[in-house]
Amino acid sequence: MSDAYPAAGVRPGDVGMTTSDRRASAPRNAATPSSRPAESVVDLRSDTVTRPTAAMRAAMAAADVGDDVFGDDPSVNALQERIAALLGKEAALFVTSGTQGNLVAVMSHCARGDEYLVGQSAHTYRYEAGGAAVLGSVQPQPIEHQADGTLALDAIAAAIKPDDSHFACTRLLCLENTLGGKVMSLRYLEDATALARSRGLATHLDGARLFNAAVALGGDPFEQAQAIAAPFDSVSVCFSKGLGAPVGSALVGSRELIGRAHRLRKMLGGGLRQAGILAAAASHALDHHVARLADDHALAARLAEGLQGLDGLTVDPPQTNMVFVSVDSAYAPGLALHLKEHGVLVTGLDRLRFVTHLDVDAAGIDRAIAAVRAAMTA
Ligand SMILES: Cc1ncc(COP(=O)(O)O)c(C=O)c1O
Repeated sequence: MSDAYPAAGVRPGDVGMTTSDRRASAPRNAATPSSRPAESVVDLRSDTVTRPTAAMRAAMAAADVGDDVFGDDPSVNALQERIAALLGKEAALFVTSGTQGNLVAVMSHCARGDEYLVGQSAHTYRYEAGGAAVLGSVQPQPIEHQADGTLALDAIAAAIKPDDSHFACTRLLCLENTLGGKVMSLRYLEDATALARSRGLATHLDGARLFNAAVALGGDPFEQAQAIAAPFDSVSVCFSKGLGAPVGSALVGSRELIGRAHRLRKMLGGGLRQAGILAAAASHALDHHVARLADDHALAARLAEGLQGLDGLTVDPPQTNMVFVSVDSAYAPGLALHLKEHGVLVTGLDRLRFVTHLDVDAAGIDRAIAAVRAAMTA
């Protein structure tokens, strides 16, 4: 299941916030100008709902900037050099979003009429509006996930097309980590990319939540992030999810690949001017918000534990910051609506997704647990 949406056909608006809800939402960090009490809404729809902290806003305000289309923005250049080095690649490109990073990656690896292999529930296939096909003329070949979120090696091998004029040319394997909050082992990433390479395919990782995966592996999160990225030709990583920046992602890879991606970013309207204001937020996030992802993971575990043992609910044990809960038909979709009425926002209807992040704390999680328990035992 994608990190973006918890269930097929469920859009954020299904159980999402109204504009006035959004105004009412006051995060834990004291940085925001919101005047509402912090308890008003516990927003667990996504880790994208965070607002920049006071320190992050200060870093943005102080950022040295220039015109990045001329390559003149020192804050963007510094971020690009830093994230490339952190992930062990030659070069990086600051892009507006995870979607743009994945799209320029697919289009940099593939030409018109080529094909990429991708998970059926991967963001790069399912939740990016068909951009690779529409804008890149690159055909996706989706593959079913295994229970742990991986794509079976024999399924990958079987999906690679022979060199035959009937078929699109299979050029690229795209993986996602974390996927639906699940962490892939380094061993699996090495095996899957080795298989792809042995068949002449390039490899791309959608690492929107790469640092969540790195933290979950234990040890030094930056070393683990580099280990996760190592076997891939390109990796996209988001600053605007668990890392808490308002905007921005990076694509890393070889200098040659990033050169192609740079032209494509411009073509897609992603050439920004004084983008250093945004890059400064991302750099601040790398300085201050990586190790603390462990707190989000601990809160997800606290939530899962608090929801255990309720008739009508099946709770998947979380590996990172997402808790998926299947709701018996007798209770769905009423449960999500009940939660919304009680100031707890989640996505999904019969399979709810709760996501922990920088702007939620233990008290918020306990409120969410209490709201679910009240609904299920009423
Ligand atoms: C796994 C994954 N990849 C990519 C994206 C796209 O990121 P953006 O919303 O910045 O385009 C998301 C968004 O939630 C995601 O969950």
